[in-house]
Amino acid sequence: MKSFDELAASVMFTQVKGMTKLIKYDPSLDFIGEGRSAVVFRIQSSDYALKVFFPNQEQTAIEEAEIYQQLQTISYFPTIYGSGHNYIVIDYIEGITLFDCLRSGIRISPEHIQEADHALAAARESGLNPSDIHLKNIMITKTGEIKLIDVARFRQIKNCSQWDDIKLAYFRFYKRIYSPKGIPDYFLNMISNLYKKPVVQKWFAHFYH
Ligand SMILES: Nc1ncnc2c1ncn2[C@@H]1O[C@H](COP(=O)(O)OP(=O)(O)O)[C@@H](O)[C@H]1O
Ligand SMILES: [Mg+2]
Repeated sequence: MKSFDELAASVMFTQVKGMTKLIKYDPSLDFIGEGRSAVVFRIQSSDYALKVFFPNQEQTAIEEAEIYQQLQTISYFPTIYGSGHNYIVIDYIEGITLFDCLRSGIRISPEHIQEADHALAAARESGLNPSDIHLKNIMITKTGEIKLIDVARFRQIKNCSQWDDIKLAYFRFYKRIYSPKGIPDYFLNMISNLYKKPVVQKWFAHFYH
């Protein structure tokens, strides 16, 4: 296997109309996902996931590596094996995000929500302030365990109500909208766009006071 440094250096991006696009990467990498700050690959024949940050997000690589180090005693978070100026290497998680569960009709149980709650409580006990907790950053493994990824914003000072809002939505609406056929993308995107509106966030906040 090539070194982590070499593999990360093989990943090339370009800018198209202000958007970062992935153009090239080593053939021993399998693309597994993309977010707002990075692309993620599985290193073939291994259980490593290589997360390479976009050129304008390199500071986040350092931040996320430090935060994973702080979470190493908590089993809900992947182990970190290495990092560089623009990448981290963590456990590859064989599983599915909660977002894809909704899309594909895989049932999310109340126990899964409870487990994610435990994971976040454990992170808080270790002195962090979990933020940016959304459905694409929570995974259910093949054996039904919960794993949390994308921890770069766990040192944020501002309190984030996103997870409380997800729990509220789960317990109030999930049974009504669940479908074994999955929920169409346009509907999920509509909900996610609605949630970004301050008026909707205020509406959620209403429930807590
Ligand atoms: N360790 C991992 N194992 C399996 N899939 C992963 C792993 N890390 C990330 N992914 C996939 O890649 C996507 C983007 O990764 P993420 O760390 O959330 O990037 P970003 O910080 O840009 O949001 C995730 O939503 C998930 O689908
Ligand atoms: Mg993410």
